Amino acid sequence: MADTKDPATIALRGNWSSVLGFVLASIGSAIGLGNVWRFPYITGQYGGGAFVLVYIACVLAVGIPIMLAEFLIGRKTQRNCVGAFRLLRPGSPWIITGWLGVVSGFVILSFYGVVGGWVLHYTFLSLQNGFVGRSPEEVSTLFASLASSPVQQIIGHTLFMLVTITIVAGGIHRGIERSNKVMMPALFLLLCGLLVYALRTEGAKAGLEFLLHPRWDQMSPTGILEALGQAFFSLSLGMGAMITYGSYLSRDTNLVRASFFVAFGDTLVAVLAGFVIFPLVFTFQLEPGGGPGLIFQTLPIAFSQLPAGIIVGSAFFILLAFAALTSAISLLEVVVAYFIDERGWTRRKTTWILGTVIFFCGVPSAIWKNVFGLMDQLATNFLLPFGAFLIALFVGWVLSQQERLAEFEPNEIRTVAYLGWTFLIRYVSPVAVAIIFLHLLRLL
Ligand code: PHE
Repeated sequence: MADTKDPATIALRGNWSSVLGFVLASIGSAIGLGNVWRFPYITGQYGGGAFVLVYIACVLAVGIPIMLAEFLIGRKTQRNCVGAFRLLRPGSPWIITGWLGVVSGFVILSFYGVVGGWVLHYTFLSLQNGFVGRSPEEVSTLFASLASSPVQQIIGHTLFMLVTITIVAGGIHRGIERSNKVMMPALFLLLCGLLVYALRTEGAKAGLEFLLHPRWDQMSPTGILEALGQAFFSLSLGMGAMITYGSYLSRDTNLVRASFFVAFGDTLVAVLAGFVIFPLVFTFQLEPGGGPGLIFQTLPIAFSQLPAGIIVGSAFFILLAFAALTSAISLLEVVVAYFIDERGWTRRKTTWILGTVIFFCGVPSAIWKNVFGLMDQLATNFLLPFGAFLIALFVGWVLSQQERLAEFEPNEIRTVAYLGWTFLIRYVSPVAVAIIFLHLLRLL
């Protein structure tokens, strides 16, 4: 393999300035709409604490092993997700796995940008005190009117994409790492503040009970599959985002520890987001099973009636905006890294051109709800599970033991973590993913 770590390569591609920067950026990629928007409402649908336990099992048995596999491929090759497979197995069809990642980046970011636009719209609305003084019916029709207005959605989508592009164009260290170093700590602080507030409301007990009490009768095989799919989406797995972030790492990072840390941070934020949302929902006797509309339709009703609604509402949507942005950055970076490494384009030019193309790909999602749904389904039910399956097979069965071992320190190799990982990535992850995949195909 060519020496990929020479100073010229690093200067061209960029590198993280510290392990902390890398970990924060990876947590930033993982924490997103998946945690604050999706996790709480599906937990409500599939038996509260029962779902949380199954979800944690999926993260441990499948999520962390695949994340470690992605970091390993990225750091080993110091390449984007297409270049990585080309370098490891030149001329083989495994390169398709990398291509799938680039395609997923386009597909996911196109609709993610539209939801990001809703988040910005709601952030401005709450900062302007837009919910207070409105009746519950008025507040919930705000969302319907946004969802049916292509112009408003395209404005939000444009703004969201502009911020994302500007950050990615700034480079790995000055753009991505720096913005995550500001947004992630701010997100944690906002979350802690909201948590203290929510846990003191009247509905706190009922909210926690709803989220944590295991109702096993509501857990079903479909619930288990949902939990696994949610783990991929939430941990940003199966599309090379973690391969790309791993490719800017230097050799001395402990990948096992980093994978645990990222997965732990992501899961913690998902659960804590539920601790903020459900107490508010129960305090105002709203519908906890509100589904996908929970945070855009149901929660603003609570903000409209709270004494400090403007502060709580604004804090919540700013938190959500940070979460969405730090994930969108990683989605764009997957695509941008490919064009920089493989086509030799400059970062600035690549980011603006591709960001604009993705922006236009997102416009149909802002206009037609079924295009939006199709993109979402295509990505979460097909592209991510399939990508994760291929990555698990590649690292578990195609790479030789020597190639895997080379990424670990001698003292790590005999640890339970390493041995456990080898078993999980070879047997458990591919089988589990194949099962959800087959199940979902039957649904299609
Ligand atoms: N993990 C992000 C979220 O939870 C979404 C995402 C998926 C980001 C895949 C990058 C890659 O919202």
